[in-house]
Amino acid sequence: MALFDVYNQYPIELVSAKGMQLKDSKGSDYLDFYGGHAVISIGHTHPHYVNQLKSQIDAIGFYSNVIHNPLQEELAERINAKLEENYELFLCSSGAEANENALKLASFHTERSKILAFSNAFHGRTSAAVAATHNTRIQAPINRSHQVDFIDFNDVEALKNHLETKNYAAVIIECIQGVGGLDQPDSDFVRTLRDLCTQTGTVLIADEVQSGFSRTGRFFSFQHHDIIPDIISMAKGMGNGFPVGGIMIHESIKAEKGMLGTTFGGNYLACTAALSVMDVLEKEDLEHKAAALESVFRAKAALLQVPAVVKGRGLMIGLEFDFNTAELRRNLLFQHGLFVGSASNPNVLRILPPLCCTEQELNQLFEGLNQELKHE
Ligand SMILES: Cc1ncc(COP(=O)(O)O)c(C=O)c1O
Repeated sequence: MALFDVYNQYPIELVSAKGMQLKDSKGSDYLDFYGGHAVISIGHTHPHYVNQLKSQIDAIGFYSNVIHNPLQEELAERINAKLEENYELFLCSSGAEANENALKLASFHTERSKILAFSNAFHGRTSAAVAATHNTRIQAPINRSHQVDFIDFNDVEALKNHLETKNYAAVIIECIQGVGGLDQPDSDFVRTLRDLCTQTGTVLIADEVQSGFSRTGRFFSFQHHDIIPDIISMAKGMGNGFPVGGIMIHESIKAEKGMLGTTFGGNYLACTAALSVMDVLEKEDLEHKAAALESVFRAKAALLQVPAVVKGRGLMIGLEFDFNTAELRRNLLFQHGLFVGSASNPNVLRILPPLCCTEQELNQLFEGLNQELKHE
């Protein structure tokens, strides 16, 4: 075995993909209700995306940030158009890197070093990002030197007690938890969080790595709560599979030369991937489609053979059963050709399809589910 063996993998070799569909080397077809972990936003091999990337690579694929790349400014403007206040963009190449830069920037800005995060949070596997992740199993001793405290969603008392010390550089929050299992804080709590961050000079970071780029029926999931974060981290759906991430930084936080940096971040191909994702999201109105499919999903879930709680929003949605869903997921994949996702809560099945998913495809998911649940 030549690979460092860190992943639990299915013995499937994918050879092609289109929209929601995947095909393996044995000729079997699958429907992708997992999106390679919420990454495929506009659909696999979308023709506009493929053509734009092909033309870009024919022209120029890469140069570093030592020269000015106007595609970065175009991308900053396109994302800013989705926001109510002005932000500046810093580009990198993954979700963890986005959060790492967000936390570092918050620390530079406040000259503080503590971080406040939430129970069951997942923010990535790099140094500060994994320290702010509520899972000691994936933290090495080197990560534990960061000063991170965790509180529960909706615990206003704990939030006040921590922030009033004015020791925290940042609070980092997923307004819908991904890996944790689709839990959400109440809107009142999120708004109190915003107010307390302002009062105590703490930077509010919205981790939109999984929930951003229209997946939840709004461009960013914090927009369901009407708040203005100081930093927004992004990745996954932003590149539809091309490794691109970034942070939107509120104009109140000032840049200094050399503060942040990266070799690959914001290269021509990455920007072209993200710009073509924006084109398709807008042209095909995928944000509204995600919101509409949530209602369809909820209606179908109410008719399931076995009771399940629907969690999440838009097409960042899932079902919580009163049993471990590992076998159900395996059967959906191997008996019905349906890829679905897991969560750290083993009873939760996560549904994270490309946003081009149709009602007919959702029907196929529920047919598979109903057949499997007959045996429960
Ligand atoms: C909310 C959230 N933040 C950060 C990350 C880390 O992203 P990446 O795997 O691209 O480093 C993830 C990945 O699942 C995530 O769901």
